Amino acid sequence: MSPNIKEPRSLIPIIREATEADAASLAALVQQLGRNDPFMVVSGFDPVTGVELLRSVIGATSDDGLFRIFVAECSGELAGLAICRRHPPPERDRVLQLDIGVDAQWRRVRVGTALVQFVLDWAQQNAIERVQLAVVSANTPAVALYERNGFEVEGTLRRSFRLDDDVYDVHVMARLLA
Ligand SMILES: CC(C)(COP(=O)(O)OP(=O)(O)OC[C@H]1O[C@@H](n2cnc3c(N)ncnc32)[C@H](O)[C@@H]1OP(=O)(O)O)[C@@H](O)C(=O)NCCC(=O)NCCS
Repeated sequence: MSPNIKEPRSLIPIIREATEADAASLAALVQQLGRNDPFMVVSGFDPVTGVELLRSVIGATSDDGLFRIFVAECSGELAGLAICRRHPPPERDRVLQLDIGVDAQWRRVRVGTALVQFVLDWAQQNAIERVQLAVVSANTPAVALYERNGFEVEGTLRRSFRLDDDVYDVHVMARLLA
């Protein structure tokens, strides 16, 4: 085999909870996403300060149990992450806020789909009735991923996201589980 051709990579990601050992790779992935995918920041997960947030909640989940971080691993590499934030009780503790990001090298091989499906299963098992997120309407890959997994656009926050000289609409999307 030519030295330039990589071994075929596993296309079946392992989805699991993040551990302390993932901290450095997670931070690198978050920074990569923050640098190259500015639409990612719309959800309130800041790619710079967010790294510290990630470190503080990895592993044992946050003390109040409101944060969970799941990762996708392909061929031993960290390929993606899903950050799940549960709202505090009592009024909205059955609502889960979702953020997803996939390493640019692992896109279009269903890593995002595997993460969303895992989160939906986990949510169902944990009495969550609604999984929701915010996504820039121009973020075609993300909107398509969510729609393919049963999320619906519930409304649009018009002209609510500014990036350089451009202003974008943001969709609120959700999937009901109850
Ligand atoms: C959005 C994102 C998570 C998708 O991850 P992914 O692993 O590439 O998605 P999948 O391979 O599971 O794709 C599932 C479906 O989503 C749609 N999709 C994914 N990427 C797409 C693209 N670039 N263009 C159009 N549709 C796309 C397709 O319908 C695809 O199904 P198909 O491959 O059978 O056509 C990834 O592009 C990403 O990390 N983007 C940057 C961060 C971000 O924007 N996160 C969302 C914040 S709200």
